[in-house]
Amino acid sequence: MDRLDKRLAGTGRWSRKEARELIKAGRVSVSGAVYRSPEEKVSDDALVSVDGQALDGPGPVYIMLHKPAGLVSATEDPREETVLSLLPPEYQRRGLFPAGRLDKDTEGLLLLTDDGPLAHRLLSPRHHVDKVYYLEVAGVLDASDVQAAREGMVLADGLQCLPAELEVLPDGRSGLITLHEGKYHQVKRMLAARGKPVTYLKRIRFGSLELDPNLPKGSWRLLSPEETALLQNQ
Ligand code: URA
Repeated sequence: MDRLDKRLAGTGRWSRKEARELIKAGRVSVSGAVYRSPEEKVSDDALVSVDGQALDGPGPVYIMLHKPAGLVSATEDPREETVLSLLPPEYQRRGLFPAGRLDKDTEGLLLLTDDGPLAHRLLSPRHHVDKVYYLEVAGVLDASDVQAAREGMVLADGLQCLPAELEVLPDGRSGLITLHEGKYHQVKRMLAARGKPVTYLKRIRFGSLELDPNLPKGSWRLLSPEETALLQNQ
């Protein structure tokens, strides 16, 4: 049980004062009935609506973002625009953070959440959550690159990578690579070690989560309950 004004403010969409004003103005209903008292207690599973629109539950939020190039995967940065700038203010205030990073020039699937334990688990090196990237290189990929990836490459600085799967696409200049770990600049460093620098990189899968082909670059959407359950059970 929580006070109604606290429940509204907990979404990050309104301050406590704004929440009280909304309630007093008769714009807030609980399970269909208008409540005008901010201190009214509501249970966690009560259906709270503002102007007839149901709130997200008080629980964590999971967002799929199609990251464009040019933004950094951080919650704040003194110089650069961050991926959070693509979200509306109510989500910017909610304490969401990217689960994992993509380089500034990398595009594709980024999960944003305020579920710290889940993010921690997905990113833990022990969990080996698969990540799939589409890549383009300067040069031509061949069977020796596939073999090197499969054997687990040693990078220029001596870093030993886990075995990875590289699939070369018919044009020879692009491919799909599946990593079972997430080291700094890993795809770019692996391909650089093969003398075929990456010219374009896009993440298309993160664990069980596929980048939604209908989600335009720079857009976001909440995960469906099925997608959330898949992530949680991974
Ligand atoms: N590997 C990279 O080199 N960059 C990314 O952004 C992700 C994986």
